[in-house]
Amino acid sequence: MTLKTAGIQIPFHRADLGEEEIAAVTEVIRSGWLTMGPKTIQFEEEFARYVNAPHAVAVSSCTAALHLALDAIGLRPGDEVLVPTTTFTATAEVMTYLGCRPVFVDVDPETLNIDPRDAEQRITSRTRAIIPVHLAGQPCDMSEIHALAEQRNLRVIEDAAHALPAAYRGKPVGSLSEFTAFSFYATKTLTTGEGGMITTENATAADRMRMMRLHGIERDGWKRYTAEGSWHYAIHEAGYKYNFTDLQAALGLVQLRKCDAMWQARRHIAERYTRAFQAAEGLQPPIVRKDRQGSWHLYVLRLNLEKLAISRNQFIDQLAQRGIGASVHFIPLHLQPYYQREFGYRPGDFPNAESQYVRSISLPIYPTMSEEEVEQVIDAVTSMANHAMRPSPVGQHATAPTA
Ligand SMILES: Cc1ncc(COP(=O)(O)O)c(C=O)c1O
Repeated sequence: MTLKTAGIQIPFHRADLGEEEIAAVTEVIRSGWLTMGPKTIQFEEEFARYVNAPHAVAVSSCTAALHLALDAIGLRPGDEVLVPTTTFTATAEVMTYLGCRPVFVDVDPETLNIDPRDAEQRITSRTRAIIPVHLAGQPCDMSEIHALAEQRNLRVIEDAAHALPAAYRGKPVGSLSEFTAFSFYATKTLTTGEGGMITTENATAADRMRMMRLHGIERDGWKRYTAEGSWHYAIHEAGYKYNFTDLQAALGLVQLRKCDAMWQARRHIAERYTRAFQAAEGLQPPIVRKDRQGSWHLYVLRLNLEKLAISRNQFIDQLAQRGIGASVHFIPLHLQPYYQREFGYRPGDFPNAESQYVRSISLPIYPTMSEEEVEQVIDAVTSMANHAMRPSPVGQHATAPTA
């Protein structure tokens, strides 16, 4: 998919899809079996192996994956779940499906990931779970999060929508916690158009999620139209229509085999960006912790606003004028009307999230970017930043203006 608007030569995202994907999907069409079936099972098995997880359940989206995990831990109305305010609405919206309350947590201003110390302050007698989000694909501090979860009896569901492939202290994301939810949305590092996966080490939860993704029908309900299946089926719960399809699985299997190569290509771009941007005083490249390997789904550059006479929004507009697409991840959820109205959040509640939001820009980073395109982005960003530097007062160092 190319996210293109008028005048944009380097879109924010362009999917890496080719003849192999086309052939794989064509094969499924010719097979006559389009919905969840043998290809989905194969994709689940290969995905589980790739992230070293005992169980993987393919679903229609990461949102569905998060919802099914919350259902599997038996969340009840009125329960609370900790989530960072810097995330996409899906992470928090799913708990409202179950009558639960999203409790927002501030982020580490360096990594933009959930701050475990702030999370601890927000635990109450109703807190049941924590959803760390690996923002941009850099894993959260999972050892601190697991220690907190153990001490305070919280279930851990990782939102790894951005984090394929990623690793924390040498272990792949997907194998670290009780649950991990992945996204295969059109712009993600592995795409099936729409789609998601939930990995788990909990066999009972895996069985329940397999049942709940298809109307609460027993585990192998999808087989009822196959030669080996039976017309008879039993409904055990009021489930959901969250199943995957073999068309998506065919795409996913090809993408999974390309996943490492696509990661290497993004990492190469990230290295080039960081080398160029760290030399510019007005720019702050992403801060990467040594014990983690990020997926580089996003490259979140931060503007050193104290030194620049340009706002983040103006910077994005100027990039667009130079033909470069950019985005922002994310507008903190506590600034959104829905969460303010329903849960009483207010501007100023999460100072780190807000101060980083106003300086963040996500730049294009995807395997189909050419070396020239990467160079064009580097030239545009560095020249705009250098041009926008505030003059230092004579005889003094530049000082930060008051807000
Ligand atoms: C952090 C995060 N979590 C969850 C999601 C939801 O993913 P999906 O679109 O597959 O439901 C997204 C989607 O962009 C996301 O960025």
